[in-house]
This record gives sequence, structure tokens and C-alpha cells, in this order.
Amino acid sequence: MADRYLHLTGTAPGRFLTRRLGLPQPAPLRRWTLETPRLEGPLLHLTAGASAVTGVAEALSRSGLPVVGDTDRPAAIVLDATGVATAAGLGDVHAALHPVVRSLAPGGRIVVLGTVPSPDDHHQAAAQQALEGFVRSLGKETGRGSTVQLVRIPVGGAARAAESTLRFLLSPRSAYVSGQVIELTTATPTPGPAADPAAPLTDRTALVTGAARGIGAAVASVLARDGARVIVLDVPGAREELERTADRLGATALPLDITAPDAAGRIAAAVPDGLDVLVHNAGITRDRRLANMPADRWASVIEVNLDSVLRTTDELLEAGVIARGGRIVATASIAGIAGNTGQTNYAASKAGIIGLVRSLGPRAAADHGVTVNAVAPGFIETKMTAAVPLFIREAGRRMNSLSQGGLPVDVAEAVAWFAQPDSTAVNGQVLRVCGQSLLGA
Ligand SMILES: NC(=O)c1ccc[n+]([C@@H]2O[C@H](COP(=O)([O-])OP(=O)(O)OC[C@H]3O[C@@H](n4cnc5c(N)ncnc54)[C@H](O)[C@@H]3O)[C@@H](O)[C@H]2O)c1
Repeated sequence: MADRYLHLTGTAPGRFLTRRLGLPQPAPLRRWTLETPRLEGPLLHLTAGASAVTGVAEALSRSGLPVVGDTDRPAAIVLDATGVATAAGLGDVHAALHPVVRSLAPGGRIVVLGTVPSPDDHHQAAAQQALEGFVRSLGKETGRGSTVQLVRIPVGGAARAAESTLRFLLSPRSAYVSGQVIELTTATPTPGPAADPAAPLTDRTALVTGAARGIGAAVASVLARDGARVIVLDVPGAREELERTADRLGATALPLDITAPDAAGRIAAAVPDGLDVLVHNAGITRDRRLANMPADRWASVIEVNLDSVLRTTDELLEAGVIARGGRIVATASIAGIAGNTGQTNYAASKAGIIGLVRSLGPRAAADHGVTVNAVAPGFIETKMTAAVPLFIREAGRRMNSLSQGGLPVDVAEAVAWFAQPDSTAVNGQVLRVCGQSLLGA
């Protein structure tokens, strides 16, 4: 559904009027296109104190942007604050960013590099945790479609592990991601032939559930763009729409209800050479306040959104269907973080997804060489949100730092980042794709 307010504020009279009325000023977001694959302008590399990780300059040099130490119009700023270990050291963060923050180009990116707060050193833990509050506040201040994130690299680790994350965050692909904290593991990508940057998922097989339409179809499309062989799965009742989506993407259609007892076996049969990327996207809502919710509405949401995800994940991992170096990406929601009236079942299922990825991620990496992450979309413009009553819809759209809803492609780009062959250090993470929604912030 068209966001008419965003269109209005894109015109001179509309901008004048809404400014005078003190209304939100959403900036049109610059998303990835073939013609505009990267930000336009240099990346300003700053350091607060001494770095506690190695290879930051090399990692930034592979971000796709020209790296400079000084500029009056950066498209992106990366502040290495990994060495900040005391409250006094936070002054270096202020000293580095205060003079340059105003010069950031519209639609710009700020990424602060930090380390994991230490369980043994409360001064370091306080200083590093402080960066989270700092980043979340700066995300609310920057405006003009700019975003701000914190990436934690383990102390003494190598920034090499952060390359795929930096490529994503410092590009138009992360247009609707802001105020996020991403904690990397020490795992470094397996050395091997460098992936083609234009098609990093070449020779990989990906399966997306609930992919006939909406976010799932967008995920399938972006994974296909990145070179993957894609299988799109949806309920047999959506067969026609599924086949149309498959034809459009050159994908294979697999009509299957993911809650079927033999779903994992049917998926395994569809990928005789194994599966590299499994995206659990299928989801339903059956809203009612708990006092009015019959057991069947509760059970169907838990079954589709959570139980079938747990079951198929376990069975496919145990059967060795998901190849080493594989990626599992599940779909949570900000409702699973903030809660929502009428959605006790849905929010429980989506919070369950968060529990699943945090617990399974480390074990799946150790036992199978597979990462497990989740996206948590906020207000995304789909058929689901078009059905929301007008005033609630408007509130959902505006109550975030970017003052607009996201698009299915924004979620898809985040899934594609998790799926990258060199995203090995990204594991057990939940990335909110919500424009820094005020809900559950
Ligand atoms: N749209 C949003 O704003 C938003 C926000 C947060 C989370 N999400 C989550 O993102 C995912 C996609 O949402 P959407 O907005 O594209 O929804 P949608 O309703 O447009 O698409 C969901 C798809 O899942 C399929 N599906 C449902 N049950 C299935 C089953 N048992 N087996 C196989 N396929 C099944 C449906 O047929 C449909 O094609 C869902 O998990 C949803 O909970 C969406």
C-alpha cells in the first residue's frame, strides 16, 4: 500500500506544511539498485583511543567505499571504539564524532565498532555497554534517512570477521536497519575462492518458506539476485501464486504445508544435493485478546510460526541435509520483543524464535558448521499491514526513527547478509529491520 504521507513530504508544499505543523519528516530511503549499488561518497575512518582488534583498515578497504581520514562530506563514518575500556575513554567517542556528525551526507551510515562487554572487568563492561545507549540515541538524532549501528568484535579478534557485516551496513541494502547491536563471534570465514561480489550465493541452494508473496517472495528474489538456486515453498492452496513467483524468479515451486508431519522429508527429497540456505519465513496471525482466544487460534499460530520451525530445523540438521557452511534464517517480529495487544499467541511464537536462534546458533556452528540467525521485522508494507486499521497503520509507520514503514526488500536484504558465505561470524543474532521502531526499543 502506498505511503501517501511520504509522497506528500517529498513535495515542496507538503514539506513546508508538515514542517510548520511539526509533523514527522521521513526522508526517502535510498535502497540498492543495479545503478546505485553503493553509497555515494567516502568512508571516514576514525578511532577512539587505541584499537583492541586487528585489521580494521583492511576490512574497511573491502567495504566498497573509498576510505579517508578526513573529509567534509562523508557518506559513512566508522568509529573504532573497541579500545574504549573506561568511563573517561568515552570522551574519545565524543571527541571523534562531535565535530563530524553534522557533515554526514543524507542517507549516510555511522557504524561504531565495539567489543563484547567483559564479565570480568566491570569498567570495560560499563564503557562498552555505554556505546549501546550512545548508538541508539544517535540513531534517533541523525535524521535524513541516516542510520547508526554498533558492531561488537571479540577483544583481540580480527575485523576480517566483520567484513560481510560492514559491507551490508555501509551500503544501501541496510536502508531500513538502524539502532542495532550486532555481536560477532570469533569464527572467521573458511578460506576459499573469493565469492563473486555480484553473485555471492552462486552454486548455493536456498529454500524459502511462505514465499508465494510478501516478504518471502522478496527474500526469494534477493537470494536469486545474489546467484542462489532458489526453491519457493508455500501451502498447496497458494499454488497458483507460488508458481507465478517461481516463474518470475526462475525458481522451483514446492507446494507444501510446512506443518505437515513429513515436511522435512519432502524438503530433503527436493534438494538431493543438500541445502545451503534455509529461510523460515512462513507465518500467520490469529489475533484475539487472551480472554477471547480459543485454543485452536493459539495452537495454529504456535504450530506454523514456531513448532514447525523447530521440527524441520532439527530434522534437516540431524539428517545432514543442511550443508556445512550452511545458513538458517528464521523470522521473528518486533511483536516478539515489545508484545502487542491481541497477539499473545503471535508474540509468544516470535519470541520463541529468538530463543531458538540464541540457543541453537553456537551448537549448530560447533556440530554442523551452520549459523542460525533471525530477522525481526517491524512495520513492513505488505498485504498483512495494509489490512491494519488506518490510524494504527499510520502510527506503526511513523513510530520509528525513519518515520516510515519498511519494504519487503529491506527484510530480504538482511536475510541475504546472514546468508553470505563470509557471514560465518554472524551467529545467534536477531536483527531488527524496523527503522529503529520505538516499540520494544
Ligand atoms: N509484514 C510485516 O510487517 C511483518 C512484521 C513482522 C514479522 N513479519 C513476519 O514475516 C513473515 C512474512 O510475513 P508477510 O507479511 O510476508 O506475510 P504474508 O501473509 O503476506 O505471507 C506469509 C506466507 O506464508 C504462507 N504460509 C502460511 N502458513 C503456511 C504453512 N503452514 N506452510 C507454508 N506456508 C505458509 C502464506 O500462504 C503466505 O504466502 C511472517 O513470518 C510474519 O510473521 C511480518
